[in-house]
Amino acid sequence: MLNRVRSNLIFGGYRLLPQFLPTRSNSSYVEPNEPNILTKSIPGPESVRLSTLLGQVQNSGAVQLFVDYDRSVGNYLVDVDGNTFLDIYSQISSVPLGYNHPSLISALHDPKNVSAFINRPALGILPPKDFIEKLQSALMSVAPPGLNEVQTMACGSCSVENALKAVCFWRRNIERGGEVAELDMSTCLTNQAPGSPHLSIMSFTGSFHGRTFGALSCTHSKAIHKLDVPAFDWPIADYPKYIFPLEENKEFNKREDDRCLAMVEDLIEQYHRKGCPVAGMIVEPIQGEGGDNHGSVYYYQQLRKICTKNQIAFIIDEVQTGCGPTGKFWAHEHFNFETAPDIVTFNKPYRIFNTWLGDPAKLVLLEQVVKEIKKENLLSKITETGDHLLNGLNDTQAQFPNYIMNARGRGTFCAIDFKTPELRDKAIKRLHLNGVHCGGSGTASLRFRTTLTFNKNHANIFLDRFNRTLKEL
Ligand SMILES: Cc1ncc(COP(=O)(O)O)c(C=O)c1O
Repeated sequence: MLNRVRSNLIFGGYRLLPQFLPTRSNSSYVEPNEPNILTKSIPGPESVRLSTLLGQVQNSGAVQLFVDYDRSVGNYLVDVDGNTFLDIYSQISSVPLGYNHPSLISALHDPKNVSAFINRPALGILPPKDFIEKLQSALMSVAPPGLNEVQTMACGSCSVENALKAVCFWRRNIERGGEVAELDMSTCLTNQAPGSPHLSIMSFTGSFHGRTFGALSCTHSKAIHKLDVPAFDWPIADYPKYIFPLEENKEFNKREDDRCLAMVEDLIEQYHRKGCPVAGMIVEPIQGEGGDNHGSVYYYQQLRKICTKNQIAFIIDEVQTGCGPTGKFWAHEHFNFETAPDIVTFNKPYRIFNTWLGDPAKLVLLEQVVKEIKKENLLSKITETGDHLLNGLNDTQAQFPNYIMNARGRGTFCAIDFKTPELRDKAIKRLHLNGVHCGGSGTASLRFRTTLTFNKNHANIFLDRFNRTLKEL
């Protein structure tokens, strides 16, 4: 039955897309040879001045640096104080080709794209004439195996919200088996069953699926995201916690997988009994925000099977992992699912809907990103670079066992843990002074979210600066 709805897919366009439109010309696309730090402290004085100004009109507590995006190139980020950083964070994995890539600048300067940039349509009702062609060339050409429909959205949380809604539509449709009753229509207006049904979505400890109201009930990575916001009583299963090195702890880790899988089955049963059956399950292929936690191929394959067996829609959230950093376009392709995941949407107009429903201008850029990935063979290059980086991280952790451990990753989607959160935070600050812009995840991890043009030379520069940083801690 699931098969009939399975050929659908929602994704959040923005992660796949550069956020900053360049003004420079193609001829100035030359990366520096290495980072260059000019100020004694980071953030430098101009960043501090601008943060103070911003603080007068909005909360600027999260601002790290003010950036000169005109001067930033490829894998190098230049701040307003003229500091040049090797950027291994790439706007939290959302600048796939790096800054000011020539192919994107050309797309922007191409007169035939001008209209897409200035006339943002209400896509659901007035799509542009080349919309289907752009969907095909930009999105469908890289759609995950087994998925053949796409619904664009404006951001990751928006995609998750609508995936959750689509799952509920699908489930109620099956339960009803026909026309929507008048009672459904009237009760939903006052948030009562059966129109607002008692259904639940299963998620996992440590997960992150966004901060909007519904998605937040599936997010469990940090209390600060959730504090004071009412949440649905939905089942939360343990995500496996492995002991490293993985090869030496196979037996323990397999038992951990089986424990977590048994809990999933148990929760499905519990929520069924309490009258709030599980309609969908949402899981990241690697938990990003929650600390770069990996589940085994076996674990994911079993999750998929449990969903099929129980008629639960299986949503894989690739907002952070998608578009190639793991060496496959979609991270879940590493799991070789027999049956594709159901990131399900629904075709009925106005039920999956908002004003913009994404942005065709982003499709113009995404089309270039996809072309570049294919032309330059970036996925196999990022796999090689990732192996090189991970080997380097393993060597470094062998040299600094008192500071770091658990190097892990797929492609350049890597991470390493520090012994304490304080050490991690100190290292991130110190790395800035040593010319590397990076970010954390979970409580004590450093995460790599590189561009797809990040190469072995960049990895070597990072490893050198990382080594220096660890010596200075
Ligand atoms: C796995 C995952 N899902 C959803 C989101 C939410 O995306 P957005 O910030 O675009 O709303 C994120 C953001 O980091 C994410 O990592």
